[in-house]
Amino acid sequence: MYQVISYIKFLFTSTNQHGVHSPFVYNFVTKCLYNKVNYSAYQKLTDYHKILKSSRAVLQITDLGEGSKTLGTNKRKVNQMVKTSSSSKKESKLLFRVTQYFNFNTILELGTSLGMGTYALALANKFSKISTIEGCPNTSNFAKSKFKELEIKNVTFINGDFTVIIPSLKEDKFDFIFFDGHHNKAATIQYFKSLLPKIHNDTVFVFDDIYWSKGMTEAWEYIKAHKTVTVTVDCFHLAFVFFRKEQAKQHFKIRV
Ligand SMILES: C[S@@+](CC[C@H](N)C(=O)[O-])C[C@H]1O[C@@H](n2cnc3c(N)ncnc32)[C@H](O)[C@@H]1O
Repeated sequence: MYQVISYIKFLFTSTNQHGVHSPFVYNFVTKCLYNKVNYSAYQKLTDYHKILKSSRAVLQITDLGEGSKTLGTNKRKVNQMVKTSSSSKKESKLLFRVTQYFNFNTILELGTSLGMGTYALALANKFSKISTIEGCPNTSNFAKSKFKELEIKNVTFINGDFTVIIPSLKEDKFDFIFFDGHHNKAATIQYFKSLLPKIHNDTVFVFDDIYWSKGMTEAWEYIKAHKTVTVTVDCFHLAFVFFRKEQAKQHFKIRV
């Protein structure tokens, strides 16, 4: 219910590119978010989604996050997980466009799950270096084995709890960080703060599911208000954070 009400509110308060005066944000909206090119990678994402939907695999899950609000047991079918815990095709395509538009090289994903988002990131730039962290060993291994079949070579799968892995990351800086696991207020703020030392001026953070719960929306408000953050672009399912010092602090809600 919270998500439905939030979506209705979002529809009334969001806009398109009209009224966006910042050239940086205007270009991001018109040339990236609204880019209508039908990239060949989209077909690959659709195909992978189909593979997952038709999979008969069952995984014994170690749940470190909020879990799924609809699946209760510890054993989960991959073909159910893709419906409830994976980025949708629409979100994956958006992740692909954003990664390609900014040409990110060093990328971190919190929450691999079955690798829908990871695949989008990997397809956007085959020379990028992607690290993806997943707390459930069986899920991480499943995604890893699928990526071997897909012949994707620019992804490092890391199994462990975010709180343990983040401090041990070797990269000094990341161009892009996708926060997509452990959807609660305290955890989201904790991961946001713990990764701030890894940003540079052009780093972009993206948060999934900021309207998952009241707490997640409060975490989003905290992030927007943070002194390091200048521009934010809320597209409902995904919300982007920019740190560019040359931008005035401004928050946008854009319907994609
Ligand atoms: C929503 S799914 C990720 C979806 C994926 N990014 C995609 O685009 O399809 C969230 C994942 O985060 C993992 N996770 C949640 N909390 C975690 C934690 N504290 N440490 C490590 N992994 C965690 C869960 O096991 C789950 O697989």
